[in-house]
Amino acid sequence: MDIEKWLLIFSLGSTILAILSLFYYKKRFDQCKNYSLQRHSGSFQQLVRVAGNVCQEHRNLLNVKDRSVQVPIMISHRTDEEILLNPMLGTGKKNDVGSGRSFMPETLFYKLGGYVIADSAFPKHYVDEGSILFLKGSPRKEILINPNDVKAAIVTCGGLCPGLNVVIRELVMTLWYNYGVKHISGIIGGYPGFYTQGCLKTLTPSIVADIHLSGGTILKTSRGGWNLEKIMDSIIKNGFNQVYIIGGDGTHRGIKNLVDEIERKHLPIYVVGIPKTIDNDIPIIDKSFGFDTAVEEAQKAIESANTEANSVEYGIGLVKLMGRNSGFIAMQASNANRNVNLCLIPESGYELTGPNGVYSYISERLKVKKHAVIVVAEGAAASCLDEKLAAEGTDPSGNPILYDIGKHLKEELVKCCKKHNINATLKYIDPTYMIRTVPANSSDKILCSELAQAAVHGTFAGFTGFSVGNVTGQAVFIPIDLLISIKEGKDAKEGQRRVDIDENMMWWRLMANTGQPSFIND
Ligand SMILES: *[C@@H]1O[C@H](CO)[C@@H](O)[C@H](O)[C@H]1NC(C)=O
Ligand SMILES: *[C@@H]1O[C@H](CO)[C@@H](O)[C@H](O)[C@H]1NC(C)=O
Ligand SMILES: *[C@@H]1O[C@H](CO)[C@@H](O)[C@H](O)[C@H]1NC(C)=O
Ligand SMILES: *[C@@H]1O[C@H](CO)[C@@H](O)[C@H](O)[C@H]1NC(C)=O
Repeated sequence: MDIEKWLLIFSLGSTILAILSLFYYKKRFDQCKNYSLQRHSGSFQQLVRVAGNVCQEHRNLLNVKDRSVQVPIMISHRTDEEILLNPMLGTGKKNDVGSGRSFMPETLFYKLGGYVIADSAFPKHYVDEGSILFLKGSPRKEILINPNDVKAAIVTCGGLCPGLNVVIRELVMTLWYNYGVKHISGIIGGYPGFYTQGCLKTLTPSIVADIHLSGGTILKTSRGGWNLEKIMDSIIKNGFNQVYIIGGDGTHRGIKNLVDEIERKHLPIYVVGIPKTIDNDIPIIDKSFGFDTAVEEAQKAIESANTEANSVEYGIGLVKLMGRNSGFIAMQASNANRNVNLCLIPESGYELTGPNGVYSYISERLKVKKHAVIVVAEGAAASCLDEKLAAEGTDPSGNPILYDIGKHLKEELVKCCKKHNINATLKYIDPTYMIRTVPANSSDKILCSELAQAAVHGTFAGFTGFSVGNVTGQAVFIPIDLLISIKEGKDAKEGQRRVDIDENMMWWRLMANTGQPSFIND
């Protein structure tokens, strides 16, 4: 009898408990669903007012005297949502540490947080009004997003660049292990993959474990395919609420449109850009990932050209390197190699013909030194002042098709030498595809990983519409609006960086190394 009575009480009790917890979770679920969002961007005070109510770290920023902190858009639920603690926050108990969580002491969050004074990264007139500060791209102790609710998407756009797979791998690892996100998809083939059948790939740590050892991107990439409506539909249909987009300046302009649209629709979707450009032509950031590897790999081509040039009489070694609008790779690779006698980049005007032109310089040099090593950036036709070297049309990304300056020089140089009675032998090397497909070298791998981690930390802190980059040696969050509007270097377009031939010390070093003159006839 007693047993039956207890059994009855027990089952009644558990039923009531079950009903109560059902209500409780229903309420929490409703709260999570209550996505009436607010946009907080631009003004520092505004951010602190809103975020400071909820987030200790943002409140700490109140002490900053200078108020020109560039804060990305921040979205959060309007309800006084409970703030979650970062899963990486350590408990102080050694047994809790493991699986990428519970390992960071509280003090470290504050040490890593705060802001970076970025003045030296900006062209001078940007900082005339006062310092520019960025928030550090570090993890926040308090996070605004519940990792259990996250469905993340990763996409790579545009041309190949060493390190893409490292970024993909680290995004997956950070989401999975550090934050506990279990729904991660790769979008296959760039932007069109969002709206093309069969282009979703589930990503897990075991799938990405070894991808950093190879070049290219396991997600494949493509140019163009930007279609706001279709991409938006796909994001909503698949329930993605964190979207990581790895791409160049064009891709970043797309991200801005996407973020604006999401804001118009009041959706809780966070979008982050990771700047990818092998040319290193995105402004403010110290260096884009893959650039070092590209410079390193270009050495091999220049060395071959040097050997060819020195192994025959009147030998010319000609190397064409990447750089559509900016000559950073050609310049750095030439500076590193030191056997280059002539380097042409899109930023520095030159003439081919005439007594001071490139042709007569090379033939004079051949007469004396019997060899010449030339490096030319692929976009250098644009800075030719005496001949009109232009191609027509645009590629699918909307970039103008470049006139093939390498091929032009290859044909014309030999002809011109002949006119000067020199039987030159020219060997032409175009290592573009060999360079952009190599795996990233160690220092680039580390940079890729840090950028990917910063991207994830930023979304969990509640930011959207930002990009990550190292600025003055520190990973920071850069609002996309700002990144796509800055012009760095003479004649740069918005969101572009070019070699400033008047002020860039590297360019003057190059002139000193090569001994090349100005190539301008009076
Ligand atoms: C959702 O938001 C609205 C308006 O902000 C508020 O009135 C309502 O109470 C919220 N619902 C829940 C379940 O939090
Ligand atoms: C990667 O390349 C850069 C540029 O040449 C170089 O500074 C760096 O030391 C390289 N890292 C490794 C580990 O080779
Ligand atoms: C160039 O080569 C041709 C044949 O290969 C020869 O006839 C001519 O004399 C050479 N010219 C010079 C300047 O060496
Ligand atoms: C980028 O920033 C991170 C941390 O903010 C730093 O550890 C790293 O050394 C930086 N990398 C470079 C190449 O400056």
